[in-house]
Amino acid sequence: MMATKHKINIAVIGAGRIGKIHCENLASVLTGAELTAIADINLEAAQESAARCNVSTAVPDYHELLADPDIEAVVICSPTDTHAQIIQEAAAAGKHIFCEKPIDHELNMVDQALEAVEQAGVKLMVGFNRRFDPNFQKVHNMVAEGNIGEPHILHIISRDPAPPPMEYLEVSGGIFFDMTIHDFDMARYLMGSEVSEIYAAGAVKVDPKIGAIGDLDTVIITLRFANGAIGTIDNSRKAVYGYDQRVEVFGSEGMVTAYNPVSDTHIYSNQEGIHSALPLNFFLERYATSYMLEMREFIECLQNNTPPPVSGMDGRIPIVMGLAAKKSYQENRPVQLNEVDGSNSK
Ligand SMILES: NC(=O)c1ccc[n+]([C@@H]2O[C@H](COP(=O)([O-])OP(=O)(O)OC[C@H]3O[C@@H](n4cnc5c(N)ncnc54)[C@H](O)[C@@H]3O)[C@@H](O)[C@H]2O)c1
Repeated sequence: MMATKHKINIAVIGAGRIGKIHCENLASVLTGAELTAIADINLEAAQESAARCNVSTAVPDYHELLADPDIEAVVICSPTDTHAQIIQEAAAAGKHIFCEKPIDHELNMVDQALEAVEQAGVKLMVGFNRRFDPNFQKVHNMVAEGNIGEPHILHIISRDPAPPPMEYLEVSGGIFFDMTIHDFDMARYLMGSEVSEIYAAGAVKVDPKIGAIGDLDTVIITLRFANGAIGTIDNSRKAVYGYDQRVEVFGSEGMVTAYNPVSDTHIYSNQEGIHSALPLNFFLERYATSYMLEMREFIECLQNNTPPPVSGMDGRIPIVMGLAAKKSYQENRPVQLNEVDGSNSK
């Protein structure tokens, strides 16, 4: 008979858009974990999620959770500008950590957080959930198994249905760190090669308020990979037809593409044209499976004492790519990654 694995006592910090999803998966779907507490500076948000998930502890200050010896791991879902600090405190308290992307948009903050994790000997997994999307996983596997021969060209189209609230954008670190960060990770994941050079063009086409806070809402990025392949990332904060998330890898022996999943597969034809359902609307629906699967893998790596499938370094490299994209946009020229990463230029 197989031994039953012990349940991981886990707490969630930040019960906003993504925190609620992780709470619900941990409380209802993932049998390997026991969600024991939720912290949010907005106590009502913590209490609301706690009530929905049947969790007895809801607190405004996450330090209470870090001081609780029964909690083995924390899931950090607070705003980006709090992640590096909370990682350091959680590591010092001996908690394993799942942290939403990005770790931070300052490389020195990321490095301090990774150093604290290393010192404490705890596990850190970064929430690049798209790696766990079954469609993108299929593309990854087909490329890795050589089905398309040598990969030559990557295209990632990643457009949101609508921009997030301005309060969110103000602390998000800007489009390269908040939005493109997922695509930077996807580029490495799909191509199995590191990016060496980035050239970014950007514009404010969706909302002038986004421009007023110094951000962009429309970007095209070209990537040059260490293995000689090239690629593009195409981002917009507003696609009127819904959440547009497609990838394509073209190679010497063929091509593999993942289109947008739709809510149903009906096709209606009339005099005006041929009509089908829109893409699933936004990340909570489109990536629902991936959020569950990534958290299941986090719990399993704690139970089995194996390395997390998305490491701290996997969290760091897309930040370097974001810094290169920002510099490229500002200076209107291709930027080598080692220009923005001191640790990589030696
Ligand atoms: N992986 C993904 O697909 C994905 C999707 C959305 C957001 N995110 C990331 O998750 C993070 C949160 O994003 P969101 O959209 O859920 O934001 P949100 O604003 O909806 O929620 C953040 C929550 O954290 C709380 N909070 C703020 N400071 C806190 C603190 N010090 N301690 C505890 N709680 C605190 C807020 O009150 C709020 O309830 C961001 O870093 C974002 O980049 C990832």
